Amino acid sequence: MPLHLQSLQDFTREELTGFITRAIELKKERLDGVKHQQLAGKSVGLIFEKPSTRTRVSFEAAMYGLGGQVIFLSGRDTQLARSEPLKDMARVMSRYVDGMVVRTFGQNVVTELAAYSSVPVINALTDLHHPCQILSDVMTVIEKKGGIENQKIAWVGDGNNMANSWIQAAERIGFELILACPEGYDPDSEILKNVQEKAEKPIRLVRSPEEAVAAADVINVDVWASMGQEDEQEERLAIFQPYQVNDELMAKAPAGAIVLHCLPAHREEEITEKVLESDRCVAFDQAENKMHMHKAILEIMIGGREE
Ligand code: CP
Ligand code: NVA
Repeated sequence: MPLHLQSLQDFTREELTGFITRAIELKKERLDGVKHQQLAGKSVGLIFEKPSTRTRVSFEAAMYGLGGQVIFLSGRDTQLARSEPLKDMARVMSRYVDGMVVRTFGQNVVTELAAYSSVPVINALTDLHHPCQILSDVMTVIEKKGGIENQKIAWVGDGNNMANSWIQAAERIGFELILACPEGYDPDSEILKNVQEKAEKPIRLVRSPEEAVAAADVINVDVWASMGQEDEQEERLAIFQPYQVNDELMAKAPAGAIVLHCLPAHREEEITEKVLESDRCVAFDQAENKMHMHKAILEIMIGGREE
């Protein structure tokens, strides 16, 4: 059975910090002009059923940067669009490529591809999780704050795929997390319950954004309507208004608190232009780190590390 990255729960603390340590090394090596070829002769298939700028391009750049190749398949161009079973897709793709990077709707798609694939399957976002993003975001926090174990991380807004992956990261890596979500928009209850039973540090859900940011070192914000929820956009605009990350909310946070946004951002909705463009927001460093993190993930999971 190959190793799959379906959610952060699939890995131990040591394995997760291994991805981060390697990503930091690879970032430095790129700055130093080191050329890599450890994935020469290998290829991955990118199967994307939802739009993407950062994740697609950073996975492609990562694979090329390590000497490998990618084959991009948009959902509508494969026979999946005509109901070919996932178990057939998984076995066919396994004969052609060394790994699959999948962005889709249901987490069950990733689970089923992984169950039938003889090559690693990597979750590049589902409705339930965005694990690779949170790994690069944790890397960004470590770079900015010198570590994450002693940081208080806040989540403000929708209890969505990003929130669920932050919850799993908090338990696995061991840091404090406080989420402020409006009633009815909580993170996945099973994921939350599961981690709260074993987490070393508090993982709390509150309603007040002010309470969440009051002692936060890091404030996370994401869109109010995720991909696939476009029909709810109008309704959500009103419900989430008190959760906007703006100057007023930032004034309630400690002076050194930084803001993370995985992008794309909807300015003047979940975050104001002013906060997004301020020195406190590290969204573009996060975006860069996705490429270094994806290199680390591909190298570790697809193989071929140069010693
Ligand atoms: N942050 C992120 O996943 O961006 P994309 O949707 O552009 O890939
Ligand atoms: N929660 C967002 C993240 C986008 C990268 C979405 O799923 O659309």
